[in-house]
Amino acid sequence: MINDLASVMFDEQALATKNAELGKLITQEYKGKEVIVVGILKGSVVFFSDLIRQIDMPIQIDFMVASSYGNGTESSGKVNIKKDLSVDIKGKHVLLVEDIIDSGITMSCLMAELQKRQPASLKLCALLSKPSRRQADVKIDFCGYDIPDEFVVGYGLDFAEKYRNMKVIGVLKPEVYA
Ligand code: IMP
Ligand code: MG
Repeated sequence: MINDLASVMFDEQALATKNAELGKLITQEYKGKEVIVVGILKGSVVFFSDLIRQIDMPIQIDFMVASSYGNGTESSGKVNIKKDLSVDIKGKHVLLVEDIIDSGITMSCLMAELQKRQPASLKLCALLSKPSRRQADVKIDFCGYDIPDEFVVGYGLDFAEKYRNMKVIGVLKPEVYA
């Protein structure tokens, strides 16, 4: 599988170090508070499971599946929540965990929708961000890495639903797309 990569962008060691860093910041942010950490499926699943074990306090977890409607250029589009939270977040501290923020459209729609439910706070942790691709304004409170405009796979990220189970993050060889 690793042979399908043209290059490795983040190896297991880099990801482990980053998770420890993010976990520490998140622990500091929420110390003494009750927080629900929400994984956005499916892309965040590997990152999420490593990250939450670096948060040194008791937390609640939950999951959502969401996608945005529309043509990809409409930043005020509606979000389609395919799987919703199993708890009411009113008055609760909520931390969303996403694999990558690209255009930002999905996440900005989702956060606007969740804000209507009046959480005590709503923050975002994303492992990767492609700032050069942004179309909708999204504040990433905890960001792993800014990356260039390249399509990456592994560690939860897929190409046509494959490669999510790869231990590293990298760029596919062009022939894999063919
Ligand atoms: P956006 O921020 O609304 O454009 O959508 C972000 C979503 O697009 C992510 O959750 C991924 O599912 C997908 N995505 C964007 N860039 C990549 C990439 O480089 N590799 C794999 N999936 C990506
Ligand atoms: Mg995704």
